[in-house]
Amino acid sequence: MTSKNFKRYTITSALPYANGPLHIGHLAGCYIPSDIYVRFLRLLEKDVLYVCGSDEHGVAITIKARKEGKTPQEVVDFYHGLMKESFEKFGISFDHYSRTSAKIHHETAQGFFKDLYEKGEFLEQRNDQYFDEEAGQFLADRYIEGTCPKCGFEHAYGDQCEKCGSSLSPSDLINPRSKLSGRTPVLRETKHWFLDLARYQNFLKKWILEDHAADWKNNVLGQCRSWLEAGDGLQARSMTRDLDWGIQVPLQDAEGKVLYVWFDAPIGYISSTKEWAATHGKDWRPYWQSEDSKLVHFIGKDNIVFHCIIFPAILKTHGGYVLPDNVPANEFLNLEGEKISTSRNWAVWLHEYLEEFPGKEDVLRYVLTANAPETKDNDFSWKDFQARNNSELVAIYGNFLNRAVVLTHKYYEGKIPQKGELTGYDREVLETLADFPAKIAASVERYRFREALGIMMDLARLGNKYLADTEPWKMIKTDEVRTATIMNIALNIAANLAIVSEPFLPFTAQKLYDLFGMKNSKWNQAGQADLLHAGESIGQLGLLFEKIEDEVVENQVQKLLKAKKMNDAANLPVTPMKEIITYDDFAKLDMRVVTILAAEKMPKSKKLLKLKIDAGVGERTVLSGVSEHFEPEYLVGKQVVMLINLAPRKMMGIDSEGMILMAEDKDGKLKLLQPHEATASGSIIS
Ligand code: 2FM
Ligand code: ZN
Repeated sequence: MTSKNFKRYTITSALPYANGPLHIGHLAGCYIPSDIYVRFLRLLEKDVLYVCGSDEHGVAITIKARKEGKTPQEVVDFYHGLMKESFEKFGISFDHYSRTSAKIHHETAQGFFKDLYEKGEFLEQRNDQYFDEEAGQFLADRYIEGTCPKCGFEHAYGDQCEKCGSSLSPSDLINPRSKLSGRTPVLRETKHWFLDLARYQNFLKKWILEDHAADWKNNVLGQCRSWLEAGDGLQARSMTRDLDWGIQVPLQDAEGKVLYVWFDAPIGYISSTKEWAATHGKDWRPYWQSEDSKLVHFIGKDNIVFHCIIFPAILKTHGGYVLPDNVPANEFLNLEGEKISTSRNWAVWLHEYLEEFPGKEDVLRYVLTANAPETKDNDFSWKDFQARNNSELVAIYGNFLNRAVVLTHKYYEGKIPQKGELTGYDREVLETLADFPAKIAASVERYRFREALGIMMDLARLGNKYLADTEPWKMIKTDEVRTATIMNIALNIAANLAIVSEPFLPFTAQKLYDLFGMKNSKWNQAGQADLLHAGESIGQLGLLFEKIEDEVVENQVQKLLKAKKMNDAANLPVTPMKEIITYDDFAKLDMRVVTILAAEKMPKSKKLLKLKIDAGVGERTVLSGVSEHFEPEYLVGKQVVMLINLAPRKMMGIDSEGMILMAEDKDGKLKLLQPHEATASGSIIS
């Protein structure tokens, strides 16, 4: 455990990729934990800087842009705005939120690369990589698809098979295809700059596995151990890519090469600090270069290797920078028992939650902290969300506050009553109260936010129990002096609760500060029995938390299932296109809008309906195999599309004179094709 006295704190949380909206997994993974930590430090009046920003490089962004027919810049501009707004609305209190497309970031990242290059830290290596001759570019791993050699899945990526989870390299794929052109790529030689991580192996081993063995989380140490103690040691990693989106490699002979996104992204914390400093008239250097600064990276578990091994190696080699004092990574949050997946739309999106649950930002913050995947993967379920809201926030926290405030208005016209002589029980309760801040602080300082939240709720429980035990609503009938003492103590517990809640429930804490007229609250005030003074007026308490009904959470579950179903349907294999025809082939088809005049089931046929049609060019009889899809009455009067010059065909003794055209979806369901407004029968379709 670091017992050092730090002068300032530099707190970062992972820069999210700007290629999709944020979901609850993001919040639970690193943004809520870091925000709790930072708010706590600010209450302690520490010099703290909390930075983040959008991660706008990487192949995933170029793939998204291509898919949506947009430029990568358009994609990142959109998601940068959306993410920034979601963070603000959830009270994630960054001092600065930047983006890696910022000029200052390009310069800073290039500066780091140059510095390492000049120190001779890179191994220049030439190797063969897949190249798409039609698109004229080298293919990043995610741009190559092929058959997985392990499980035979035909759509494995160049770096991973999503079916069996195997880690792959592009050359492992059987029958590789370029995702840009669909063609088989060729191998072509290219040059890249590799960071020789083996050089840092001993340093990293000592720094992490010895110096931080006692204060880093087990899940983080475990991953580091598996990297650092692997039989063949740390491997060199390429720090550049052949790509046209990213930060140019700042060397003469590096045309068309950009920095590897994981080289530039963590440097984004430094650029964000520089940007903040420039706009606030501050100096960025102490936050990064002074040994008395405590640097803490909040991340999710998939980022551990980059923050514990690669970035520290870069900082160390550059020199002059502090290394992280801790990297309290969380594990993953699942949703209703399944892995959260952006591509499968299995997620609770923050921008949607904000719209559907206005004013309930603290509820989600609470549930995600109470259920945080701090030591192992954890699950979010809507039932649990409801239960925690109803039986914890409403029934414990809200109930205590409500009783204390309502009784104060009822007995004392909203003025804090004077405390009289204390009983032994009062003293006991006040002593317990005094211990709370230190207990909560001890958990927060060890990054145990779930535990800290649980203790905070115990203070609300203490308040409830105190009221239940002392029964001021009965006491008022017999002993007004005693009642005043009880209410003074209850209100002071409530004011204490406001302060210790602030890191977890900032919106609620603000409401309580307003209620009690508390300004500039500090952590060291918490624990005191006389935060509020007799005679001072309190305001009215609006609704802090309200019960969430079954129907509301059921709707959310249905929404998830629906999104998943639609997504699964969209991902079913598509029927391949038929062979190309000429315009003359097409022109032979005479398709018209027609009106169904009558419809009846064909006797002895399960499938056929006999339709009488106004084709505009005369009446027709058509036998159509749609009996299992439509009731005859439903069809009468409908306008549909018909191929009227199909050669007549005899079926069950009747000539069918044409064919009604319909759409068939992936489940084999038929849908009528209809003009969007009434159209004369016989209108030509061309
Ligand atoms: O996993 C991610 O979302 C990355 N964009 C995190 C980057 S963290 C830091 F290095 F910037
Ligand atoms: Zn596989």
